[in-house]
Amino acid sequence: MKVIAVFGSPRSGGNSDIILDHLIKGIEANGICVEKIILRNLSFSPCISCGRCMQTGICAVNDDMQKIYPRIVEAGGIIVASPIYFMGVSAQLKAFIDRFQVFWSRKYILHFPVRKDGVAAKGFFIATAARHESEELFAGAIKTVKSFFHVIDAEYAGDMLCSELEEKGAVYKKQAILKQAFDTGKTLFI
Ligand SMILES: Cc1cc2nc3c(=O)[nH]c(=O)nc-3n(C[C@H](O)[C@H](O)[C@H](O)COP(=O)(O)O)c2cc1C
Repeated sequence: MKVIAVFGSPRSGGNSDIILDHLIKGIEANGICVEKIILRNLSFSPCISCGRCMQTGICAVNDDMQKIYPRIVEAGGIIVASPIYFMGVSAQLKAFIDRFQVFWSRKYILHFPVRKDGVAAKGFFIATAARHESEELFAGAIKTVKSFFHVIDAEYAGDMLCSELEEKGAVYKKQAILKQAFDTGKTLFI
């Protein structure tokens, strides 16, 4: 099984990075390989709403997203990690998700299958935030990620929503979260 981890924070070594790496270590403990895609290292534009994908099923914007699309189609597992920014996901992750409008076009306008084998992938979401936990803190981000998973034919298999983490590396003071991430990784794809 191929697993892709989409990492959406602009901050290297920050809280979502550390939690994601612990989850990945848990997954890899089972001999499953995880490819981590660091969005800030890619060169891609936001969706330009040109509408070409509605006719062709292909995104007309020629940038790094073109090498990502086939990997998402082939992956059986997709993890998304992001800090909460203004009650939503990071700008990097939102721009990435919007570029999957081409999958929406394939699915709902052109009626192409998203995955060749027809089997839904398994999706998992990690989010970190500075504020205290509340009903609304992660709600916007969850809606966005659920909508993304739906369009790429991935089931929302679970999440880790971690509040009260502000400064870089704050999560190291909460070892229970890191243990939870590793343990979750160990069982997520078996
Ligand atoms: C631009 C920006 C917007 C933010 N907006 C929120 C917010 O709406 N709610 C919140 O709880 N924390 C917010 N934060 C704090 C981050 O979510 C928090 O520090 C998080 O742990 C950062 O994750 P990272 O270390 O993985 O980058 C914001 C931080 C930045 C830089």
